[in-house]
Amino acid sequence: MPCTRFSMRLLTAGLLASTLLVSASPAYLLDRQLHLEPRQANDTATPTTDAAGAFPTDVGYLGTTKPGAAPFLVVNDRIPGSRGNSPVETRWNTTGPSDPSFDIFKNVGNESPYFSTPLFASFQEKAAVLPETCTVSQVHLLHRHGARYPTSSTTEGAPLFGATIANASKADAFNATGPLSFLNDWQYQLGAELLVPLGAQQLFDSGVHAYYRYGRLYNATTQPHKPVVRTTSESRMLDSARYFSLGFWGWDAPNLINLEVVLEAGEGLAPGAFNNTLAPYDTCNNSDTITVGDTYLRPVWDEIYLANATKRLQPYVDGLNLTTDLVYGMQSLCAYETVTLGYSDFCLLFTQQEWEGYEYDLDLQFQGDYGMMSPTGRAQGIGYVQELLARLTNTTLAAGNLNVTTQNTTLDFDPARFPIDQPLYFDFTHDDVIVSVLAALNYQQVVGDFLDPTKPDPNRTFRLSHITPFAARLFFEVVDCTGGSGSGSGSVEAGRYIRTVLNDAVVPLDDNQGCQPNDHGLCKLDDFVRYQQQNAEKAANFDKACFGVNGTDFTITGPVRNGTVY
Ligand SMILES: *[C@@H]1O[C@H](CO)[C@@H](O)[C@H](O)[C@H]1NC(C)=O
Ligand SMILES: *[C@@H]1O[C@H](CO)[C@@H](O)[C@H](O)[C@H]1NC(C)=O
Ligand SMILES: *[C@@H]1O[C@H](CO)[C@@H](O)[C@H](O)[C@H]1NC(C)=O
Ligand SMILES: *[C@@H]1O[C@H](CO)[C@@H](O)[C@H](O)[C@H]1NC(C)=O
Ligand SMILES: *[C@@H]1O[C@H](CO)[C@@H](O)[C@H](O)[C@H]1NC(C)=O
Ligand SMILES: *[C@@H]1O[C@H](CO)[C@@H](O)[C@H](O)[C@H]1NC(C)=O
Ligand SMILES: *[C@@H]1O[C@H](CO)[C@@H](O)[C@H](O)[C@H]1NC(C)=O
Ligand SMILES: *[C@@H]1O[C@H](CO)[C@@H](O)[C@H](O)[C@H]1NC(C)=O
Ligand SMILES: *[C@@H]1O[C@H](CO)[C@@H](O)[C@H](O)[C@H]1NC(C)=O
Ligand SMILES: *[C@@H]1O[C@H](CO)[C@@H](O)[C@H](O)[C@H]1NC(C)=O
Ligand SMILES: *[C@@H]1O[C@H](CO)[C@@H](O)[C@H](O)[C@H]1NC(C)=O
Ligand SMILES: *[C@@H]1O[C@H](CO)[C@@H](O)[C@H](O)[C@H]1NC(C)=O
Repeated sequence: MPCTRFSMRLLTAGLLASTLLVSASPAYLLDRQLHLEPRQANDTATPTTDAAGAFPTDVGYLGTTKPGAAPFLVVNDRIPGSRGNSPVETRWNTTGPSDPSFDIFKNVGNESPYFSTPLFASFQEKAAVLPETCTVSQVHLLHRHGARYPTSSTTEGAPLFGATIANASKADAFNATGPLSFLNDWQYQLGAELLVPLGAQQLFDSGVHAYYRYGRLYNATTQPHKPVVRTTSESRMLDSARYFSLGFWGWDAPNLINLEVVLEAGEGLAPGAFNNTLAPYDTCNNSDTITVGDTYLRPVWDEIYLANATKRLQPYVDGLNLTTDLVYGMQSLCAYETVTLGYSDFCLLFTQQEWEGYEYDLDLQFQGDYGMMSPTGRAQGIGYVQELLARLTNTTLAAGNLNVTTQNTTLDFDPARFPIDQPLYFDFTHDDVIVSVLAALNYQQVVGDFLDPTKPDPNRTFRLSHITPFAARLFFEVVDCTGGSGSGSGSVEAGRYIRTVLNDAVVPLDDNQGCQPNDHGLCKLDDFVRYQQQNAEKAANFDKACFGVNGTDFTITGPVRNGTVY
């Protein structure tokens, strides 16, 4: 093959470089080039006593996944100026004026990319930093997966709009103009259910964040076994656990941990086929059929908040009758196209008030289907709460130690697969489960609001984007304090405490958790545990809430107030 001068020069340079690497480098350089150091040099010292085959990761049940189109922002991003280091385009204005601080992507509920919650902002001034005499000995993390495609259902939201346009645009009469003219060549290009690269980044970053915060609690040399990290079998869940682990442990994470993949049913499986505290709706039958948010709340609110936009946008499209469902789908597309394709023309179409309305739709959905306004809200969260209490009290789960709710006892009764001796517990789950766990633990200060479907309270606490954005994280920290001479407000009585950190904010614990409120958000561990042991299971009312018959055992004709049925 002929060599042009140009490629000959490249070849020479390449040869020269590899010569340098292989033969001319001093040993230390060679080592750096060819050998990657694990984060802890002696990680391989970890005893590998774990039963072979106890932690398979290829268990199936990945969900109804579908790949989507690849992004191409180099061509598609038409907004003038640089977006800087942001991988996706978020520099959109609203229709009409908005508050200067308003950000669409902090107002799209559980579809908001991760951001630190503004909840309890003034409380953080004192609470964020631990008193001087305290240290952390144990951490329990419940982590949501990162940004993903929408679900595969075509009955709602972005996929519904996609299917409708695919149909309508076939007709000659279809003609979009003005702000909607992009629809003339628009197609639905999103996949389904998979974690997208922005989601992978969110989890990796979160693993790095957790490493800096808690790194010293991991010691490969002294731990009795590899840490068990739990997730569910859905593709995005497995991927999320893996990316987080890479951030926390480094590239050799798969060798350092036992990843426990708990089966989560795909569509088409009988309810109850799988028990999984990280996907409790699999076990709790009524969670699918008695959906207060979807049945009683959202239909009311959507007609109210989308009336203007539906009327405003209709004149810009012939051959398609807009409905509130379709316009809702357009808002949903802004959120999903942005995290998956990096760019969305739908983002420019709505007012600030309409984005706030969209957030409220999702607030109503989650509070009504999984939170304090749902008859199964606490029941869906109780399984994880029972596991948390077992870990906090150093109690092995076994028949007799547990009133089984959503646990898979094959796993939880096995000390190798449900160990109680770890300083770090990392569990991966879904948005709704975080809401249900907060309800089951009676965190009224976070999820206590009773929401009126005709009128959002601008001062409410329950905003889903503040609780479960993509890659949301809820930490329970066990804090040991020696008391003594801590300075001023930094001092606290000696003892063992618990602290909750939700999306980077310390939650002020109070008598709803059996705690004496204080400036640090610290609660005596014994008080917290006693309160939960006395109340959480009773309040969840698992058997009746999940398996009772509506109309016989209870009657649901609207929202409940306390996350259960009586
Ligand atoms: C790592 O293990 C090796 C061999 O067992 C030992 O010589 C070395 O001191 C250990 N290094 C650290 C940092 O513990
Ligand atoms: C947003 O508004 C500013 C100020 O009017 C304008 O410079 C900018 O181009 C607008 N951005 C978009 C995406 O329309
Ligand atoms: C689409 O509608 C606009 C405005 O009514 C009109 O000017 C244009 O000719 C229409 N285009 C087609 C292809 O019908
Ligand atoms: C792990 O613990 C051992 C024994 O206490 C200690 O020598 C070592 O420095 C620790 N390793 C790290 C990375 O902290
Ligand atoms: C419990 O977990 C085991 C091991 O993954 C699995 O084989 C079994 O189907 C699960 N059972 C239920 C009810 O989830
Ligand atoms: C609808 O438009 C009217 C008139 O501009 C405005 O007063 C009202 O607040 C809007 N409502 C919503 C939900 O956007
Ligand atoms: C839109 O609605 C009108 C009035 O109900 C109806 O006549 C028309 O056929 C509908 N158009 C489409 C494209 O469905
Ligand atoms: C937990 O219980 C085990 C077995 O009873 C005991 O060896 C261990 O020290 C306990 N751990 C803590 C932190 O109390
Ligand atoms: C199981 O539930 C019963 C009441 O329904 C309660 O008395 C008992 O303490 C519970 N057991 C455990 C281990 O929590
Ligand atoms: C699954 O959960 C149900 C309902 O609580 C329980 O009856 C059953 O024993 C559990 N199955 C397993 C394998 O843990
Ligand atoms: C929201 O809180 C602010 C400040 O406390 C208060 O001025 C305002 O009236 C409240 N709004 C509503 C609707 O309660
Ligand atoms: C529950 O039963 C009542 C009375 O039969 C009925 O009116 C209501 O629609 C049912 N609720 C749900 C969510 O199915």
